[in-house]
Amino acid sequence: MSHVPVLQKEVIKYLDPKPDENFIDCTIGSGGHTLAILERTAPTGKVLGIDWDTEAIAKLKTQTAKLWKRLILVNDNFAHIQDIVQREKFRPVHGILLDLGMSSDQLEKSGRGFTFQKNEPLDMRYDPANLLDATKILNFWSRQDIERIFKEYGEEQFAQEIAKAIVAARSEKPIIKTFQLVDIITHATPKWYQRKKLHPATKTFQALRITVNNELQNLTHALPQAVSVLSPGGRIAAISFHSLEDRIVKRFFRSEPSLKVLTKKPATASWPERKTNPKSRSAKLRVCAKET
Ligand SMILES: C[S@@+](CC[C@H](N)C(=O)[O-])C[C@H]1O[C@@H](n2cnc3c(N)ncnc32)[C@H](O)[C@@H]1O
Repeated sequence: MSHVPVLQKEVIKYLDPKPDENFIDCTIGSGGHTLAILERTAPTGKVLGIDWDTEAIAKLKTQTAKLWKRLILVNDNFAHIQDIVQREKFRPVHGILLDLGMSSDQLEKSGRGFTFQKNEPLDMRYDPANLLDATKILNFWSRQDIERIFKEYGEEQFAQEIAKAIVAARSEKPIIKTFQLVDIITHATPKWYQRKKLHPATKTFQALRITVNNELQNLTHALPQAVSVLSPGGRIAAISFHSLEDRIVKRFFRSEPSLKVLTKKPATASWPERKTNPKSRSAKLRVCAKET
């Protein structure tokens, strides 16, 4: 529970946790948002904290032993939220938070290849039991499929060139480390692309992570279930970090007759937060309330 989570003030403002209320944190990560919620829901309010990453849950279990009465930790995919809630008999639910994507711990410390800044095995799984990892995509998928995910999930303008270069490189030797992939991307894209502020591997890495973890489908499955487990008057807050996720959240909130959208425009990070935490610059928070 070290770093300050993205859009913390805004999440608390919109979810508005009060003493003795219950919340579900679908992406508890290192627990920053949950801790802020638990402070406000004392003395008896609970949080059901879910994360797909076994390591994140194990770490939290040791760090939050004192909170055991008020914090229930579950290692699972939030796409199963309805089953999880039933299993844990977690009712009523006053609010639900989804803080999507990967955590700073996963990026900086997991050693699972989420970053192009360090030379790590190309794994990218949140859940180590997941059958698909990034090396399988890179070494066994067809060029067309690789190009498609780079286009669809990375919105990468050089998807075709990078996919072609991957297929050529893997015929020499398997692609298993992040720096191998960075090297392939660097050679497949023009010089000016490498001089841009955004690292040329950013979009490719994003696309691989989204595909490995089935991120957009998980979100699409979770949202209607979140509505069904939420008590009347309860709120759902979703923080997304790229346009594909944000579009899913926006459209879903608008299309559900039982929901009232509370953020006409998504809430974004303040200037001080943008300065101190670059990750917050792409964060968009959308919130809705279920009819009473
Ligand atoms: C941005 S981090 C959350 C950070 C957290 N809010 C905090 O304050 O520390 C996203 C987390 O969601 C988890 N995650 C991603 N997809 C998931 C899924 N389908 N089910 C459960 N957890 C998931 C990741 O493992 C990661 O720990």
